[in-house]
Amino acid sequence: MSRHGAVAAPSAEPGHRGERSPGTARVGMIWAQTSGGIIGNEGSMPWHLPEDMAHFKNTTWGHPVIMGRRTWDSIPARFRPFGGRTNIVLTSDAATAAEATSVGAAVVHSPQEGLETAAGAEGADEIWICGGGQVYEAYEPYADTAMVTVINIDAEGDTRAPRLPESWKLVLSEPAEGWLTAANGTEYRHELWERS
Ligand SMILES: NC(=O)c1ccc[n+]([C@@H]2O[C@H](COP(=O)([O-])OP(=O)(O)OC[C@H]3O[C@@H](n4cnc5c(N)ncnc54)[C@H](OP(=O)(O)O)[C@@H]3O)[C@@H](O)[C@H]2O)c1
Repeated sequence: MSRHGAVAAPSAEPGHRGERSPGTARVGMIWAQTSGGIIGNEGSMPWHLPEDMAHFKNTTWGHPVIMGRRTWDSIPARFRPFGGRTNIVLTSDAATAAEATSVGAAVVHSPQEGLETAAGAEGADEIWICGGGQVYEAYEPYADTAMVTVINIDAEGDTRAPRLPESWKLVLSEPAEGWLTAANGTEYRHELWERS
């Protein structure tokens, strides 16, 4: 998908969305979920879908990404921070803060501080919120787009995708009908949601 949609200025307070000016950052959320809305289980994702990992990399490359401490913890050490992107970790945990900082990630203590830090990073014309469940909930009021991969599986999980209020509309689906099929046979599709 080439279209990332429009998002709020990072310094805006919730409720001031849509008041955009040229040059302001766009804030999007990006996640993958089962058809039933599960995004995680016991600290990881209950599927293996390399195509979606590539989609995540392509979408967020060159832009700051904001994630919660549990999501940071879920990334194998050799893969974090994500390359080619400023990684911003929300945490109050001193040990995580020290470890994340030591490998080049930025540490913040509130969603607002995350947006401010992201706004000063390279590629800040787009800011991507990349999980997990708590962090999507925290940033939903600031975001106007959600890039959602729906995976056609039924899996148990302990973490759900955020509930998007009715003001959010599906604006694009790839494919428009049915599913893409991954090399391992898993069916999935990409959806772009925007706040109307
Ligand atoms: N399917 C997907 O696309 C996707 C993407 C990402 C993650 N996930 C999955 O989601 C699960 C993790 O999600 P989660 O909800 O358990 O945790 P999370 O959102 O990744 O992280 C939660 C932590 O972030 C910090 N935090 C969250 N909100 C904050 C706020 N308002 N202010 C300050 N700090 C805040 C806190 O860290 P401290 O406790 O350190 O203070 C909190 O414990 C895992 O299973 C992971 O695999 C799935």
